[in-house]
Amino acid sequence: MLAGVMGWPISHSRSPKIHAYWLARYGVAGAYAPLAVEPGRLEPALRGLAALGFSGCNLTIPHKEAALPFLDVVDENARRIGAVNCVVVGARGELIGRNYDGFGFIAALREAAPGWLAGDAPCVVLGAGGAARAILAGLIEDGARDIRLFNRSPERAGTLADLFGPPVKALPWAQRNDSIGDAGLVVNATSQGMVGQAPLDLSLAALPGSALVCDIVYAPLETPLLAEARRMGATPVDGLGMLLHQARPAFRDWTGIMPEATPELRAAIVSTL
Ligand SMILES: NC(=O)c1ccc[n+]([C@@H]2O[C@H](COP(=O)([O-])OP(=O)(O)OC[C@H]3O[C@@H](n4cnc5c(N)ncnc54)[C@H](OP(=O)(O)O)[C@@H]3O)[C@@H](O)[C@H]2O)c1
Repeated sequence: MLAGVMGWPISHSRSPKIHAYWLARYGVAGAYAPLAVEPGRLEPALRGLAALGFSGCNLTIPHKEAALPFLDVVDENARRIGAVNCVVVGARGELIGRNYDGFGFIAALREAAPGWLAGDAPCVVLGAGGAARAILAGLIEDGARDIRLFNRSPERAGTLADLFGPPVKALPWAQRNDSIGDAGLVVNATSQGMVGQAPLDLSLAALPGSALVCDIVYAPLETPLLAEARRMGATPVDGLGMLLHQARPAFRDWTGIMPEATPELRAAIVSTL
């Protein structure tokens, strides 16, 4: 099994370590490589996959959206999200685009709180970039009926509400602190809270103790938002779970084996953060 991750730059990616762990654990002969692909060379790089005998690849910044026109088939989920994070080389060499970020997000929540259901209580999502699109798709697929979407730039939130339809309501950024009193889930899908960035400006004072608070930022692993969630008695869910779980169906597509995100794998990736 040959696969890799295309990005520019690529040295920061944890995907090679994740897939190398699974290749060893499941005894699959093969390799997964970091592939530094300049933005202007994505099409020839993708077209070369079949000739090189690759089963597929992952895509990361800046290629997730740019890849769409170069693929032969893009599944409905990836088309709706407008981004591909997994490419599978089909039996005739065709390139099939998928997006497993929403799957990874929901799987991480279920791991932290097995009985949690997206439809049980309102979901509050902050951010309207690429990651937020995948999260909205995952929540809707999981049965969410009331998703309150806040973004610093309101027009981007409005665009996503139009795209995803009625479960998603775009609300003014200034109202975010007042919208969480009955929430079952609060998600930070902005870049705030990352190493080198200011913390997310959100008060959890009104949050019910039964809620999950997920920060998809994973460096640092415990962001200021998650530390506050812990203090409030809510269930914190860090961004590493999403990263590990989104990789599982890609590995399955390439090898036929659905791998586990084991505590040992998690510890190995935590040691690199
Ligand atoms: N755990 C995982 O597996 C995973 C997967 C994907 C992404 N991520 C992480 O998720 C984060 C977002 O990624 P992305 O690809 O969606 O990025 P993106 O498309 O660039 O979107 C960035 C988002 O952050 C918001 N933002 C930036 N600065 C802000 C500020 N000062 N105050 C409030 N909001 C601000 C932006 O709002 P505006 O629209 O107003 O600019 C936008 O909604 C990154 O930290 C990324 O590392 C994690």
